[in-house]
Amino acid sequence: MTSTAAEEALANSTDDASLARSIARSQEIEEQIQINPAQFRMLTGVRPTGNMHLGHYFGTMKSWQEIQDRGVETWILVADYQVITDRDGVGPIRERVLSLVADTLAVGVDPEKSTIFTHSAVPAQNQLMLPFLSLVTEAELHRNPTVKAELEATDGRAMSGLLLTYPVHQAADILFCQANLVPVGKDQLPHLEQARLIAQRFDKRYGRAVKEHPVFRRPEALLSSASSVLGLDGQKMSKSRGNTIELRMTADETAKAIKKAKTDADRVITYDPVNRPEVSNLLLLASLTSGRTPEEIAAEIGDGGAGTLKKVVTESVNDYFAPIRARREELVANEDYLLEVLHAGNARANDVANRTLDDVRTAMHMNY
Ligand code: TRP
Repeated sequence: MTSTAAEEALANSTDDASLARSIARSQEIEEQIQINPAQFRMLTGVRPTGNMHLGHYFGTMKSWQEIQDRGVETWILVADYQVITDRDGVGPIRERVLSLVADTLAVGVDPEKSTIFTHSAVPAQNQLMLPFLSLVTEAELHRNPTVKAELEATDGRAMSGLLLTYPVHQAADILFCQANLVPVGKDQLPHLEQARLIAQRFDKRYGRAVKEHPVFRRPEALLSSASSVLGLDGQKMSKSRGNTIELRMTADETAKAIKKAKTDADRVITYDPVNRPEVSNLLLLASLTSGRTPEEIAAEIGDGGAGTLKKVVTESVNDYFAPIRARREELVANEDYLLEVLHAGNARANDVANRTLDDVRTAMHMNY
């Protein structure tokens, strides 16, 4: 395979210059959404590996409703096959998938406007993996920075064929539904480059036999500008660290979790993310859930100490999430409705996937 600009982009997708370009491009896209949202189809994927927490909410979930309400067609993939890329079993997958559907609806995704679906229910999407695998090299997959990072995170577990090739599966997620917008954190940029590269190579190899336009659209990253919320110990918020506030927690459970949050000995509360990460993270949580600035909240607490800070954060978080949690509770109690939403989303995803696979068969001269 000859080296192309796209291949170089893949190799360099995490360097500073490339990141700066992605950020600049994301800003342009934001402006285009303002002008003509209908030109975009957004796809995002989430692994159903546990309970969603405030890190997920402020990192991505909150933006789903915003994007949907700006008029961009919104597709949300519950990436159930991706669960087995980095772990051996699926865990209580059914509960987790339904719980994720409930979370998605509770945060404001409207199933009339948006499509919520799972990998395992869309055969044509998974079938794209096969021609796509022929368009990548093993060396390229081994070089993928995200695959490397995932492998390291699995603590000595041998690399499975699926882990090595999951960027290709993720490319199928994005390309089957003709998404041209993928909101990602910068760790996922190499996957997006891989998807673009596959789309480009498919065209090159099989031509444009179907229509005048390429079989696949070229997806672009929408880099999130959200401030990342840390866990209650000041480290990355994650279930395995036991430092999360989950969407599904009650107000009391939230109060208990925040009471245990790490702070420091200085009674005067100030917003200083570099020197006081734990205190500043609590201020950030209060800010995100109240619409006021962290500095303002800090000034108000003054020398009230960590106790006052925690009280303010608890109230603010619980007030903000009360309606979301109430809606979530209603949804969880109605499994039939959650299944109905999923079935409708899966039907829509299958329609689009079947059409794409037809185009692929035509391009490959395999339509008998
Ligand atoms: N890999 C993503 C993650 O771990 C989830 C995902 C699966 C995804 N398919 C996707 C994200 C397609 C964006 C587009 O978070």
